[in-house]
Order: sequence, then C-alpha cells, then structure tokens
Amino acid sequence: MNITDKLVIAMVGLPARGKSTIANKIKHFLNRNGIKSRIFNNGVLRRRYGPPESALAEFYHPDNKSASSFREKIALMNINSSLKYLEKNGQVAVLDATNVSKKRRELIRQSFGDLPVIFIECVNENKEIIEMNIKKKVRTGEFDGLSIKEAMNNFQKRIDYYRLIYSPLADEENFIILDSLNSKILKEVVSKELPFYDLLRDLLVTDIVKSLLLIRHGETYFNLENRIGGDSPLTPKGREQAHLLGLHFSKKKIPKIFTSTKVRCIETASIIASYQKGSEIIPLKEFDEINSGICEGMSYQEIQRDMPEVYYSRKRDKFNYVYPGGEGYVTMRERISLGIKKALFLSSGGEEIMIVGHRAVNRMILSHFLYKREEDVPYIYVPQDQYYHIIATERKKVFQLKYFSLSN
Ligand code: F6P
Repeated sequence: MNITDKLVIAMVGLPARGKSTIANKIKHFLNRNGIKSRIFNNGVLRRRYGPPESALAEFYHPDNKSASSFREKIALMNINSSLKYLEKNGQVAVLDATNVSKKRRELIRQSFGDLPVIFIECVNENKEIIEMNIKKKVRTGEFDGLSIKEAMNNFQKRIDYYRLIYSPLADEENFIILDSLNSKILKEVVSKELPFYDLLRDLLVTDIVKSLLLIRHGETYFNLENRIGGDSPLTPKGREQAHLLGLHFSKKKIPKIFTSTKVRCIETASIIASYQKGSEIIPLKEFDEINSGICEGMSYQEIQRDMPEVYYSRKRDKFNYVYPGGEGYVTMRERISLGIKKALFLSSGGEEIMIVGHRAVNRMILSHFLYKREEDVPYIYVPQDQYYHIIATERKKVFQLKYFSLSN
C-alpha cells in the first residue's frame, strides 16, 4: 500500500463532547474535496452486536472485565475494517470512539504500523450543550423502559466511568486538542508531515453550513406600533406568515428549529414545526433580540423625541453604539457566535438547519458567515415576508433572499 496519501484520524474524548459531529464534518469536507474518507464508529457496532445492557452505565464500569473485552473486540473490528478500507482505495479512515485510555490509543497506533495516525481530542465543558447532547442520545430508543430523567442520569454515570480511565492527549506523536464547541485548536503537536493536514486544520476551525434557513419571526403587536424589544406575541398576520412558512418548508426535512427564547420566535417556530414530522424546537438565549436597555418598548419616534442623544448617537455609528443599560451590534457578536456554534454542534453535519430569529440577530448571523463590513451589518434587509437561504462551505458562499409564498 502506498501510504503517502493515507491518514488515520482517531477521535478522542468523553461521550457527548461532539466527536461524531466533528467526525462527520471531516468526512463530508474531505469527500467534497475528492479525498475518499469513511467513519468507523464503535457505538454503531456496539449497538449491533452488544447485549441490550450495553446501553447502561454499569457496562462501562472499569472493573467490568467482560464488557471491556467486548468493547476492545469492537474497537479491533473497526481497526481491521479501516485497514481494509485503506488497503483498497480509501484515503482517510476516521475512528469515531472515545479512545480515552492510553492503552486503547497504543493499540490503535500499533495496529496501523507505518500508516500515519493523528488523534483529535474534543473538549467541551459547556454544561447546557452537554445536557442537550445527552438528551439527544437518550432519545435514540436504546433507553426504552427508562424515563428521560433516569436515562440522562444513567448516561451521566457512563461519562463518569469513562472519566476514571480518561487520559488526555499529551505524549502521542501527532495530535490536536480541539475546543469542539468554539472550533478552536487549543494545542497541536505534529511530529512529521501528514497528508491532508492543512485541509484538516482548516476545516476544524471553520464553521460550515450546507444549508441554513434563516427566518425572522412573523409580525408582532409591537411591530405594528414600531416598538422595539419586549416580548410581544404574533398578530393574526404574523401567525399567517408562520403558516405560510410551515407550508413552504413542509416538503423539506427540518429536524431542529433553533429560536430565541422570545414568544414571537417560539410561536413562529411552533407553527412551522406543526408542518413537520417530529421537528424539535431548541430555544437559545444567544439568539434573543438586541437588548435596547432604557429604550426597551419604545418606538423609534419616541426615542427621537424623548432621547435625542441616544437616537442621533446611534444614527451616527449604529454598529458600535451600545444602548444605555443594553447592547449594541458590537457587543452582540460574541453571544451570536456562541449561538451559531451551539446550533452547529447540536446538528449532525449535512442536515438542514433552521434558525428563527430577530432583525438584529439575523443581521449578525448573516455577517458571521458572510464577513460583511461592520458598518453595513445594521442595515442588512431582514423582512418578515422573506427568508435567507445561506450556504457557507469551503467552496461556495451564498445568501439568497427568498419569498415563501405557496408558489415558490
Ligand atoms: O423592531 C424590531 C426589532 O427586532 C427590535 O426589537 C430591535 O431593537 C430592532 O428591530 C433592531 O433593528 P435596528 O438595529 O435597525 O434598530
């Protein structure tokens, strides 16, 4: 086998840290770039060949000898399949498993002989995200018979057992430690030239969306009076807009709809979800509308009349202006970016992503992917009768404003 264009990537990390999301991202990205890549997932084999109790925490107790030897067998099955894949015309094999012990990593390294191996450790201690991820995992059917709460506690216990044998990457030959939520490389050690390394590095730090539907909530009572902020519900027209959106997207499969925590977004998302089969609504506070501080609930006319200082200062430099006691576009950037990371983290690569947000929020989301000039961001057109379709891959950057009438 010519090993100059072959690479083994072994994921490392506790359960629910985003390893599979990253593995999927790697596979999709490399395949799109003409590099034949495949994932070898231990969990898939464990569910296929393991006993039903392999879903439960005690199976992962470090002293459970028969279970550990079963898990090792599964690991070897995947190592062997990936070797065969690389011997044929496969180029990159991604081993998707926890691989948290040194012993396991040594097994991987030795099994591949001269083939280059790089370990990618995913770390993420964001409690909210871990919990959401666990919730997603326990809904897969493996935990039938347990309540969601019991299943989640059980999964948490599994994580704790893994912690007992967890040895973070330190002296492996080639490795990357990745903050998997924020797409940041925390440490990298590469002791020799590795094939596809630049591409791999690039993709790990880039937010990629194959298809993002960015929607603004329907009309609210506050919108009718030109009032800003608040938590107003939809008007009948706003609800009708949401129904039109629901119908418009009814033929697409949208597994998750991310929204802000505000009534107007959740209402819009719920109506859209009613046209889907089992679409989950995930409210994220990161997508809440700009907090206009002392101006919350006021109309632009009232601000101009009663607080001319605020009105004209904002007009002069809308991007950098921060409402007294509130936010500005400039201060929203970090939380919007975190919201996007959360949404991407919780979606599996390749699936349609929908965000129902607000005017200022959607402007910031657009600018996150499309690198708009700061001064233009607060003026991006975000109507309530159209939506943006965003594609941001390494090859293609598109943002199209589309109508959602029935004829489209
Ligand atoms: O009017 C709707 C709204 O979403 C307000 O809640 C928010 O303050 C405003 O739009 C943001 O737009 P701009 O930055 O142009 O004032």
